[in-house]
Amino acid sequence: MTRPRLLAIETSCDETAAAVVDDELHVVSSVVSSQIDLHASFGGVVPEVAGRAHVELLEPVVAEALAAAGGSMTEPGVEAVAVTAGPGLIGSLLVGLSGAKAMSYAWDVPLVAVNHLEGHLFAAQLDAGEVAFPHVTLLVSGGHTMLLAVDAPGGYRLLGETIDDAAGEAYDKVARFLGLGYPGGPAIDRLAREGDPTAFAFPRALRGDSLDVSFSGLKTAVVRMVDKATTVNVPDVAASFQAAVVDVLVDKAMRAVDRVGATALVLGGGVAANSALRSAMAEACQESGIACHLPSATMCTDNAAMIAAAGWFRLTAGEIAPLTQAADPSMALQLTSKGGEQ
Ligand code: KG4
Ligand code: ZN
Repeated sequence: MTRPRLLAIETSCDETAAAVVDDELHVVSSVVSSQIDLHASFGGVVPEVAGRAHVELLEPVVAEALAAAGGSMTEPGVEAVAVTAGPGLIGSLLVGLSGAKAMSYAWDVPLVAVNHLEGHLFAAQLDAGEVAFPHVTLLVSGGHTMLLAVDAPGGYRLLGETIDDAAGEAYDKVARFLGLGYPGGPAIDRLAREGDPTAFAFPRALRGDSLDVSFSGLKTAVVRMVDKATTVNVPDVAASFQAAVVDVLVDKAMRAVDRVGATALVLGGGVAANSALRSAMAEACQESGIACHLPSATMCTDNAAMIAAAGWFRLTAGEIAPLTQAADPSMALQLTSKGGEQ
């Protein structure tokens, strides 16, 4: 007997992605078509270009994910369609959402609207299985940096967040300034391996008890230092910048673990693919005797399997979206409380 399957679609930014996942959170197929080459010459994602590319790529990407799971556009073999409804670029979100609505209607299966951030929170479960509660999740992506206490699936308390730039945004801005191209995170990650992380003492902002973080001062410090210098060793700058980001994130995450009494730490979001962050976090967790869940690099960056994982949870909770479901470019994560209190 085949297990119930769900098709998920993700088009919130510059990745067109579709995945088929079964109810054991087993990824049957996952296809991610990146538009990086389309946007690289502009130094960042161009919303209009992204929207048009999603229109061209959506159908072939969904067809490929279904075919790899033994189905087709006419015989999909899925029980529901989950789709990212926000946050993200409105023109990009609308392509995936409209396509998902059409498929849900044509196949007569429920539509499930998923918050992209919740997808990132569920990504670790696809690789690591169930994670013990309560745990702390550090969500670090291009648009968000949040520390959350997760008391149960769907039970999120915001412990801290960035007061200015997201971690991924800081990577992308510093990489652009250093002429390393787009996307900046992987470029800095690679180059930093050849540099000395102690070469420059860049600032670590908001030391102390607050679990909020700030990266805009760090970015400015890098720009000032490079502008003043006559020659710069770019790998050293990359490594020193990265060391400052990683120090702050690990420090705040471990404080959050203490505050919550968590037995596990989970990483999620594109920056969670960063090799220095992963090894520093794993080491800190080991010292503290708690479990560390690091999704594989492909599950950290945008994909549809994570949307399916969050979609299963919402579907099981009876949350079926109407065909009038709107896309919300600034959709917030539903929190059980704002200040971290239980
Ligand atoms: O989660 P994601 O794929 O998209 C958003 O929802 O934002 O995250 C993209 C971000 C970009 O800022 C990218 O530079 C960063 O994740 N990123 C990395 C690495 N891989 C992707 N940052 C640091 N190191 C990496 N290896
Ligand atoms: Zn994302």
